Amino acid sequence: MELIRDKDIDPAPLADKRVAILGYGNQGRAQALNLKDSGIDVVVGLRGASGSSIEAQAAGLEVELLETATATADVIMFLAPDEILGDLYTEVEPHIRKGAALGFSHGLAIHFGFIRPRADLDVYLVAPKGPGTALRSLYQAGKGMVALWAVAQDASGNARDIALAYGRAIGCARAGLIASSFEEEAVADLFNENAVVWGGVPELLRAGFETLVDAGISPEVAYLECVGELKLIADLIEARGIAGMREVISNTAELGAVLGGPAIIDDAIREKMAGVLKTVRSGEFAKTLRSEAENGYPKLDAARQAARSQPIEQVYQKLRKLTGD
Ligand SMILES: NC(=O)c1ccc[n+]([C@@H]2O[C@H](COP(=O)([O-])OP(=O)(O)OC[C@H]3O[C@@H](n4cnc5c(N)ncnc54)[C@H](OP(=O)(O)O)[C@@H]3O)[C@@H](O)[C@H]2O)c1
Repeated sequence: MELIRDKDIDPAPLADKRVAILGYGNQGRAQALNLKDSGIDVVVGLRGASGSSIEAQAAGLEVELLETATATADVIMFLAPDEILGDLYTEVEPHIRKGAALGFSHGLAIHFGFIRPRADLDVYLVAPKGPGTALRSLYQAGKGMVALWAVAQDASGNARDIALAYGRAIGCARAGLIASSFEEEAVADLFNENAVVWGGVPELLRAGFETLVDAGISPEVAYLECVGELKLIADLIEARGIAGMREVISNTAELGAVLGGPAIIDDAIREKMAGVLKTVRSGEFAKTLRSEAENGYPKLDAARQAARSQPIEQVYQKLRKLTGD
């Protein structure tokens, strides 16, 4: 794996270009501000009724309507929710200059065909591996966040150079840019979200909490044990890796982990993970995501409501009040 850093990248391909950031949410805000601080000519494109407009202007950014921002830019970065990017592209396509570059921070919309870009356009990916808040704070601290990069369409012959210069301008090349593809980034990211950190871990925590409570342990103690220690292990794994984390916990915790972990995450679970990967690869998940947006997010609304009323959430609220956090 090759890690491309600042010193390996020529910033010139972006130097005389104007970049439109479509969307001022988690990534849009961070990337627009990092670009501005890197001396790039940046304009934020928003819907007419956008509440983000005042915030972006207050941060010193130029703000225009989507079509105006698009029409004046050489590079257009799509940073609105993935499920609406197909509609957003359709809306702005007539305004995209011939030979412009389109940028993405997730491979989904291109890989799963939400967008079929015009043949005259470059299409690249710079996908920071973390939230926009951290992308911004790392940049401000003189550091960077690792990102994956890729090119899906190279009409100009310069798409690679534009992608790398973009990754440099948002600060990611301070940490390193890793070559990938739209497919690999989309599949790995969606798999993780479905099955591992965002899908698997919260369900594991909840299952552990409920098992203890059902066995007569007080909900507060069950919460502190099963959920409260998550940050400890996350920090240790980040700082030392999995083997290093094991070396600094007690022998008791380590033996429990090496006996209990594989007994829980067994072949049956791995088979289920392979099943989830299949639904991601086949595009079934992407289709469901699209239909959620088209139907007004019924699954997400129901899940959010259910999550709020679960016993584990009530214990969290109670502990928060007690500890004054
Ligand atoms: N969240 C992350 O940390 C993260 C990490 C890595 C990659 N990514 C990728 O980055 C991209 C952006 O994700 P995000 O989480 O930053 O998005 P987000 O915060 O949900 O984006 C919100 C922004 O999108 C605008 N928007 C929403 N619907 C729109 C529409 N129909 N037309 C035009 N603009 C619309 C909103 O406009 P208003 O201001 O008008 O509401 C707002 O400015 C995605 O491809 C995502 O996969 C995200």
